[in-house]
Amino acid sequence: MQLHNILLFFLFYRCQTGHWIKMKKANKVFFTKNSITSIKHSEHIAVSAFIDHRINKAIRVISIIRRDNLQPLYCIYCNDDHDCQTAEAEVQIHSDHFGFPFAASDVLCHGAHTQIATCVAISTSANISNVHAEDLLPIKNKVTHESFKFNFTVCISNLFEGYNNVLQFVQTVEMYKLLGVQHVVIYNTSCGPDLEKLLQHYKREGIVEIVSWPINKFLNPSKGWNFVEHGGDLHYYGQLVTLNECIYRNMYQSRYVLLNDIDEIIMPYKHANLPLLMEDLQQEHITVGVFLIENHIFPKTQFEETHRFSRPEWRNISGINIMEHIYREPDRKYVFNPRKMIINPRSVVQTSVHSALAQYGDVYYVPFDVCRIVHVRTPLQGHLIKEQLFVDTRVWDFEAELISNVDKTLQASDLI
Ligand SMILES: *[C@@H]1O[C@H](CO)[C@@H](O)[C@H](O)[C@H]1NC(C)=O
Ligand SMILES: *[C@@H]1O[C@H](CO)[C@@H](O)[C@H](O)[C@H]1NC(C)=O
Ligand SMILES: *[C@@H]1O[C@H](CO)[C@@H](O)[C@H](O)[C@H]1NC(C)=O
Ligand SMILES: *[C@@H]1O[C@H](CO)[C@@H](O)[C@H](O)[C@H]1NC(C)=O
Repeated sequence: MQLHNILLFFLFYRCQTGHWIKMKKANKVFFTKNSITSIKHSEHIAVSAFIDHRINKAIRVISIIRRDNLQPLYCIYCNDDHDCQTAEAEVQIHSDHFGFPFAASDVLCHGAHTQIATCVAISTSANISNVHAEDLLPIKNKVTHESFKFNFTVCISNLFEGYNNVLQFVQTVEMYKLLGVQHVVIYNTSCGPDLEKLLQHYKREGIVEIVSWPINKFLNPSKGWNFVEHGGDLHYYGQLVTLNECIYRNMYQSRYVLLNDIDEIIMPYKHANLPLLMEDLQQEHITVGVFLIENHIFPKTQFEETHRFSRPEWRNISGINIMEHIYREPDRKYVFNPRKMIINPRSVVQTSVHSALAQYGDVYYVPFDVCRIVHVRTPLQGHLIKEQLFVDTRVWDFEAELISNVDKTLQASDLI
């Protein structure tokens, strides 16, 4: 095989599988998962490529763009016959970047035959000879679906810094299963040793999809949300990038997508589960694609008095036991209460953390008594005493099944 053909074979192989090719000595070929790709001769980064059926089947590449160093970018996209086209890229930097130099962005490729392309490279040069196998991203969402593999997917943005809050994690995932969730997507930069065991179990079980997210190998990601306060290259380990990636990843896989953090549960208070909640909400609000849910804080510093859920089986498990924290902070009149979302992914174009930035349908604020977020964490109003907090025991309604499922999962994960 000529060098040219070998290259084409590898390009083709990568387009088909979404894996990168690394040549090692002795001509051994290794395939490893790749979720982040540098755009050569620039500081920008490409993440994932999707056909967007809503804008004339253009190719949308979820990217991370250095805002103060823009330069012309080109899309080079190829089909299965190795027939490649070049088009000038349209770069859309998302309006929410919290002042960081790098921002979640879309690089759009408009041109002929984008719908039959299988892979795309974003390049600073329109010359196709400068594109190599490792520059190519496989293109996903090539076909639309009317029926979905999952009804409810939860997108958890990023795990980092050896996060090891196992008990809250397992309780949250088991709670979500009882509420009707079939799929949880997590972006992993790093996690602690116990959480690693739990994640390996959930991966085997199939409920959790782990996307490798080695953003720290490419940038100096910020541990915070605000550039002025926290510094760094990119907001919160790239949370805005992974949330957007997750929406497109699940666009034709999941009827609804929940966007929340690992320590938050979007909880129906008038319905037994999420399917019943959404059936009612969607029937009443047919044009809505983004449902905003109020966040409520349950301080981890306030414990339920009888200690009935302080179980010896869990005493050695690291992390917070959410069943012990049933005191909810009151709303503060003049403080913005952030929301999280349940979305129809097909109606969203761009998202931020607390709202969608661009969408096709309408937006609805779900009333607090219908659905709200149970968020067990350090208090925001730490000066309040127990008597000033509200008792909210919704999680206990699931106690029998929840405890038994958590125990089974911890056992299967070799943690108890
Ligand atoms: C494209 O790049 C190749 C390799 O770098 C070079 O030989 C060729 O002249 C370039 N073509 C054009 C049109 O610039
Ligand atoms: C999704 O919901 C529909 C209708 O409620 C149901 O028939 C279907 O089995 C559900 N799918 C999954 C994967 O649970
Ligand atoms: C998460 O990422 C870290 C760092 O790359 C890796 O060591 C670990 O195995 C990953 N965990 C899972 C469950 O994928
Ligand atoms: C608690 O966990 C540690 C480390 O995982 C283990 O060595 C110890 O035996 C455990 N203790 C109990 C009572 O399970």
